[in-house]
Amino acid sequence: MNAQFDLTSASRAPNLDPGADAILQNLMEQITQDDSLPAPSPENVFVGDGDYRAIGAEYLGHFVRLGGLQPSESVLDIGCGIGRMAVPLTQYLDSEKAFYEGVDPVNAGIEWCVQNITSSYPNFRFCRVDVAHELYNPGGAIAGHEIVLPFSDAKFDFVTMVSVATHLPETEISAYAREVMRLLRPGGRLFLTAFVVAAGDPDRKTARPRFTRGKTPGTWYGDPLAPLGAIGFDAGIIEDILKKAGLQIRRLSLGHWRGIESNHYQDVIIAVKPE
Ligand SMILES: C[S@@+](CC[C@H](N)C(=O)[O-])C[C@H]1O[C@@H](n2cnc3c(N)ncnc32)[C@H](O)[C@@H]1O
Repeated sequence: MNAQFDLTSASRAPNLDPGADAILQNLMEQITQDDSLPAPSPENVFVGDGDYRAIGAEYLGHFVRLGGLQPSESVLDIGCGIGRMAVPLTQYLDSEKAFYEGVDPVNAGIEWCVQNITSSYPNFRFCRVDVAHELYNPGGAIAGHEIVLPFSDAKFDFVTMVSVATHLPETEISAYAREVMRLLRPGGRLFLTAFVVAAGDPDRKTARPRFTRGKTPGTWYGDPLAPLGAIGFDAGIIEDILKKAGLQIRRLSLGHWRGIESNHYQDVIIAVKPE
């Protein structure tokens, strides 16, 4: 594994003091149990299996503990799906000082978010981008490698891409890395999840998915019949993409997809736009 990525000690949470951590944990538990928060009917959830509210609450914890997200910060959620990350953020972000923008190519998800989230939380806005994706938006008008998002430079403190780079080819991750660099203010952070595949990972019997080598060099496919269903990259590839865009890697926290102990499934990368 590339040295920059061999950050096992850096995968610990940053300095949240025990009191702040307990308050955060309490908020995450409240969110998980709060039936009054918006939630789509299970048959409309197209973003993966599992408990919609619990997974959102779990990620709120990772945004704060691993990414240092503050309640006053502005958030861009690339690939926001059907609001799984947005709903818990409505309970954390300051309704006066902070705002949230979500973008996604799936119209049904954006419509649900506007009707069920923006209606109660007007500082949460959602926008459809008609970017092509063979599984999520076949026939989309915009090629992924040419994506330009409809926001002004340095508008955001925090950008999330949760379970999105795990469905995109390298050229499209590069296009988003350039956009993230443009859209973050100096000192702002990218929270990106990925499958960073290191020597030994694919051989571990407990790994899920069990990746096999993809057609494109450096790639790994969960299912060769649907390469973008779950795509991983050799360690170093995503690091280089982010570096080339001008971002600095601060942390790699390894996920339990590879059959190791971790409190999150996919790998989490935190990258910073230099001051
Ligand atoms: C597994 S889902 C994750 C959704 C959301 N981040 C979550 O965790 O709930 C992947 C999302 O990426 C979106 N997506 C696919 N291609 C995209 C692209 N080129 N740009 C932005 N989002 C994309 C899909 O529409 C889908 O909502």
